[in-house]
Amino acid sequence: MDYFTTTSAASRRTAGAIIIGIYEGGKLGAAAKDVDAASGKQLSKLAKSGDVSGSLGKCAVLSSLKSVRAQRVVVVGLGKISEFSVSRFRRASAAATSALDGSKVKDIVTFLTLEDVADVDAYYLARHSVQSIGDALYRFNEMKSGKKPAAMPLKKIGFGIKSRSDADEATRGAKHADAIVASMNLAKDLGNLPPNVCTPSYLARTAQGLARKYRDLVTSIVSEAEMKKLGMHSLLSVTAGSVEPAKLIVMKYKGAGKAPPAVLVGKGITFDSGGISLKPGPGMDEMKYDMCGAASVIATMAAVASLKLPINVTAIVPACENLPSGTATRPGDIVKSMSGHTIEILNTDAEGRLILCDALTYARRFKPDVMIDVATLTGACVIALGHHHTAVMSNSVELASTIVGAGVSADDLAWHMPMTEEYDRQLKSNFADFANVGGRDGGAITAACFLGNFTKGIDWAHLDIAGTAWQSGAKKGGTGRPVPLLTEFLLARANALP
Ligand code: BES
Ligand code: MN
Ligand code: ZN
Repeated sequence: MDYFTTTSAASRRTAGAIIIGIYEGGKLGAAAKDVDAASGKQLSKLAKSGDVSGSLGKCAVLSSLKSVRAQRVVVVGLGKISEFSVSRFRRASAAATSALDGSKVKDIVTFLTLEDVADVDAYYLARHSVQSIGDALYRFNEMKSGKKPAAMPLKKIGFGIKSRSDADEATRGAKHADAIVASMNLAKDLGNLPPNVCTPSYLARTAQGLARKYRDLVTSIVSEAEMKKLGMHSLLSVTAGSVEPAKLIVMKYKGAGKAPPAVLVGKGITFDSGGISLKPGPGMDEMKYDMCGAASVIATMAAVASLKLPINVTAIVPACENLPSGTATRPGDIVKSMSGHTIEILNTDAEGRLILCDALTYARRFKPDVMIDVATLTGACVIALGHHHTAVMSNSVELASTIVGAGVSADDLAWHMPMTEEYDRQLKSNFADFANVGGRDGGAITAACFLGNFTKGIDWAHLDIAGTAWQSGAKKGGTGRPVPLLTEFLLARANALP
């Protein structure tokens, strides 16, 4: 995709389509005023007749407006002017893009970037434009046979800017967003692929493929035999029932010599049946998305490498399946983790923490400055926060608030949850150092407390993305979250933000 900025008036701009906005009550947005004046009040008339509407996300595609050079004008509703926000901005640009679905538009210029959005500058306006357009254009047709619906042949996206002095920042925002969109698409693809295709080996091959593509990225794979030698019996207990070999994927990006790395750890359960503590049948297919933490971490490495950020980042992905069989782990089994702690496995469906604890212990050898794990860890997190916020638990209040802030800037929201020792006590075991479950109450937090036992002395945060990594129902599909949040966090670390 190519990107450009323009200071020309919306009506004067030649393009396959321009995007302009109108608020509720028929109040025209900045570019809509210009188009209205050029076309002899045509927009005002359409607003009065109800043919264009200001209700959020509602679109009209107009063609051959008088004295307007663009072939099509998408007029999108922006909602109440007093309630306009980044997330509404994104919803409106995504809706405008979807309204062009099926058309042969090759270049669009969005003038929504001329609207005032509180606390959002030219960099973020361009970034959110590209990201929301990218989101709207995403399709997953890989597994369909026969003729696939043609994608919109979009090649160029332009942004209206208020002054020439905004051009560099807007261009940088678009460039960052381009990398984020590509990574979100990768994360979505990996999530959407069926579990018989997207196996631990497939994730490993994907990570190796990225290392071939980017010079500063190196991928290595730790095999089951090596895991045994390392004492990763907690991780191995999860894969015990599966014939697919488990993989521990290690990706190292070097952009800053010997500086201590940020380490990202992603849960890579390519299918979670629950194991012997088998899950109920309905909806179990969605447990193919139990590798979305892994997908987001692998994809974020691609974004960091493609942007050549001047930082060091290491990703660690424990990947395996959780299946029942005659060799599977039983409830009541006690295993020794790589850290030496013993764990009583009371529920084989609490498997994410069992693979993550060994990955977090393994991560220590890289002497991380900061460690963030990302996991579709608990159903309890979905009960607590629903599908809008990712949960953040951390042993550092400062790190948690940095992450929450990155989520706000990236409009990939996260919420800080408590994680105090009272919760920790729920993990007591009569027979081992701890149990792998702490009861129903506060389940997202006790899961984080479990991981906290393996991250002592390191600044660490845990992101539970169980509610945000994919959508269910008619729109079933991966969301690509939290790639924007993670990339934002790393862009800030690299001082690459305005
Ligand atoms: N992968 C699931 C968590 C999950 C469930 C994510 C539903 C998204 C939607 C995880 O491995 C799991 O099964 N967790 C159990 C933990 C429990 C046994 C303590 C859960 O949440 O039920
Ligand atoms: Mn499970
Ligand atoms: Zn799981």
